[in-house]
Amino acid sequence: MKNIPYIDLHCHLDGSITLDIARKLAELQNIELPADDAELESKLSVPESCESLNEFLECFALPCSLMQTKEGITESVRLVQEKNKEQGVAYLELRFAPQKHCDKGLTQTQVIEAALAGLKMCDLHTNLILCLMRDKGNEKENMETIELAMKYLVKDGGVVAVDLAGAEALFHTDQFAEPFKKAKEYGIPFTIHAGEADGAKSVRDALDYGAVRIGHGVRTKEDPALLEYVIKNKIPLEMCPNSNRQTKSVDDMTKYPIREYLAKGVKVTVCTDDPAICRTTIAKEFEYLEKKFGITAAEKKNMLLNAAEAAFTDEATKASLKKAIESAF
Ligand code: ADE
Ligand code: ZN
Repeated sequence: MKNIPYIDLHCHLDGSITLDIARKLAELQNIELPADDAELESKLSVPESCESLNEFLECFALPCSLMQTKEGITESVRLVQEKNKEQGVAYLELRFAPQKHCDKGLTQTQVIEAALAGLKMCDLHTNLILCLMRDKGNEKENMETIELAMKYLVKDGGVVAVDLAGAEALFHTDQFAEPFKKAKEYGIPFTIHAGEADGAKSVRDALDYGAVRIGHGVRTKEDPALLEYVIKNKIPLEMCPNSNRQTKSVDDMTKYPIREYLAKGVKVTVCTDDPAICRTTIAKEFEYLEKKFGITAAEKKNMLLNAAEAAFTDEATKASLKKAIESAF
């Protein structure tokens, strides 16, 4: 088998800050970090004892603190792309919430411009997804992200979509009708994290808003009619197995529905979510699926083809990704 052209459609910038990247960002900005690698690593990744998405999300404080300047953001985008390229990724969609990078006074516009500058510094084919955040009292910030997504939106080579991230069990999807109504009106494509820490209704609400992909979607099966809808309408699910294991999206991984979804014809894609926080890579996610669920080479190819088709990019890129996948298997 030739080198596999991996595609990662669901990868958070702030979840991609590995030990080496953290040290480079800290040095660039004169930020002090723990000298001991093991101690730093434990602050940059999820503990095995993690019990929920809420606990998992606590791991983002340190990486976010390293991305509060233009330089820090530009360099992080560059370094994360370089790392993905080394790991065999052929096409990457990198997501971040501009509002999480404004703690030291940057505006959302400056954050996006800094990320776009970083994007140009690596030749890995990468697009950006801007996340809205599930939070309290940030309605203005979320609406601003929509307005900026509209301003910067391109078909390929920059900002291509929006998303909704954060604590799904605390801030339900039905609270975010307003920004997604606007996104739909503007014609901005969007995916939404749903059916990860909350149930099928969250997925239904996301699809009702007009989401064209679902982040995770693990719990879609709790509503069989909804699962049928997802199958019939070819809604891609961005599944992130190790993240789902760590956040306890299912209480027991033997109940993880990936085999069932594949057998039923769901457009499953495999993604990393937060490679540094989850201590994973895209290749490791596929290895995990092979070992744990006996996922075959044909299924692997099928999921990569699903990802190529689901990518927020132009038709020419999708066709060339599919061709590369076909020739790798
Ligand atoms: N932000 C980073 N990872 C996330 C996840 N798995 N769910 C929601 N928000 C996130
Ligand atoms: Zn995510």
